[in-house]
Amino acid sequence: MTAPVLIFDSGVGGLSVLAPIRALLPGLAIVYAADNAGFPYGTKSEAEIAARVPALLGRLVERYRPVLAVIACNTASTIALAHVRAALDLPVVGTVPAIKPAAEQSLTRVIGVLGTAATVRQPYVDRLSAEFAGDCLVLRHGSSRLVELAEARLAGEKVTAADVAPELAGLLDQPGGDRIDTVVLACTHFPLLATELAAASPRLLHFVDGGAGIARRVAHLLGPMAAPAPPIAGRAVFTRADAHVDALAGALKSFGLASVEIL
Ligand code: DGL
Repeated sequence: MTAPVLIFDSGVGGLSVLAPIRALLPGLAIVYAADNAGFPYGTKSEAEIAARVPALLGRLVERYRPVLAVIACNTASTIALAHVRAALDLPVVGTVPAIKPAAEQSLTRVIGVLGTAATVRQPYVDRLSAEFAGDCLVLRHGSSRLVELAEARLAGEKVTAADVAPELAGLLDQPGGDRIDTVVLACTHFPLLATELAAASPRLLHFVDGGAGIARRVAHLLGPMAAPAPPIAGRAVFTRADAHVDALAGALKSFGLASVEIL
């Protein structure tokens, strides 16, 4: 196998980043790694994430020898991107809340950021808001429920608009939330619930995520290595074997991941 691109998340969320990468670069060899033994990240402390993620990525890089790694997780990126870059000798693309594109398109100048509890409390989010959305009111809400629901949906369970509505309300019901017109999906699990979130919206909301921008960044960094090639099947790797992984097989195939292995 040619050297792959490694895409990493705590669970299936990174598939929302894999999809635009595959759409742009169908011939890319992909290893999709999910740290399900450490899932969920969003309820963990900064210290736990900062210790776990660089060490695990080190093991994955040793095993799969990728040309580039994508941390397809806002929680891991906003906490540990600098540690990972310092520890690894290859280009690392992170996933950070898409506050900049949201600010570019908001007409009401009120933006919602929906992420994990760990992500929405990061100083990284303060910095993005100050730099790119200085004239906007930026409201935040952390939800671990949406992460669970995205995992459940991809494992074949039924998830409805009524299931996601209370999580969206956590944002829209805040003071000023009635003027939000743009919502940043600042957790890679959440675009997997785009249909349900749109159906649960009490008015037209624009949902923004970083997937397409990350795909363009990967193509740029790979340069000639990203030349068009026939589509090839990717591999998924999990850090623990369990019944949930078995239940995900169909969804993984639909994202082009034909085989599943355990690290
Ligand atoms: N998908 C991850 C993110 O983008 C986190 C999900 C979790 O493990 O809590 O933040």
